[in-house]
Amino acid sequence: MEVVIVPDAKAGGAVIAEAMAGLLRRKPDALLGVATGSTPLPVYQALVATVRAGAVDAGRARICQLDEYVGLPAGHPESYRSVVLREVVEPLGLTEASFMGPDGSADDVPAACQEYDRALAAAGGVDLQLLGIGTDGHIGFNEPCSSLASRTRIKTLTEQTRVDNARFFDGDIDQVPHHVITQGIGTILEARHVVLLATGEGKAEAVAQTVEGPVAAVVPASALQLHPHATVVVDEAAASRLKLADYFRHTFASKPAWQGL
Ligand code: GLP
Repeated sequence: MEVVIVPDAKAGGAVIAEAMAGLLRRKPDALLGVATGSTPLPVYQALVATVRAGAVDAGRARICQLDEYVGLPAGHPESYRSVVLREVVEPLGLTEASFMGPDGSADDVPAACQEYDRALAAAGGVDLQLLGIGTDGHIGFNEPCSSLASRTRIKTLTEQTRVDNARFFDGDIDQVPHHVITQGIGTILEARHVVLLATGEGKAEAVAQTVEGPVAAVVPASALQLHPHATVVVDEAAASRLKLADYFRHTFASKPAWQGL
């Protein structure tokens, strides 16, 4: 995998937004898989600025969701559908018609999961999947010991993830659902390009294990080592435990500009 070390979160957002813009120039109806959480917000802000500056036309872009809470009422502001519509789809000037996600309020959750995997395949597959990473190494909501071959399915959140995400629910852990739907690790690995962004010291250990540790279900993000086109973008704080940091810096600094991410 390629590791790109950037000075800060804003620079990480700019690098990834430029990769997305480049993709949209080559393929205007590309399917962009987006992630929630705080980390990817600089990516969306940079991409929206690029679009508003007229440097790329995102009018035919398609957006798909990575994961979703189970059981939140439709339209709940912290459902990931609401978050992606608010942070990505609407600012890009797109409508819900350009957007797909799993139905977290379905009566038959397993059927909704299968339906989402089918819909992603029918849409031609994800061109670029953006990921954050949990402090425990999860991607999407694939918690530690998720099958590396898993498909979209229901998962139970760890207490750590519920504590981490309580900040989106007025700091009240009791409001954080226990169950979620997430693209499986096998589903995520089908994207043509997978880009993980991690920022801050709190992610340094998970990043080190993801990049330099063994491929292991206990660190779900380490499955990206199996992907032929995986890019890990980290700020200095999140890179602080990488033994090969100098090598990654040197490699990126000497990369020909035409290669992109
Ligand atoms: C949630 C999301 C993940 C995200 C993670 C980290 O668990 N399901 O996709 O990567 O939060 O969020 P943050 O970027 O806010 O640390």
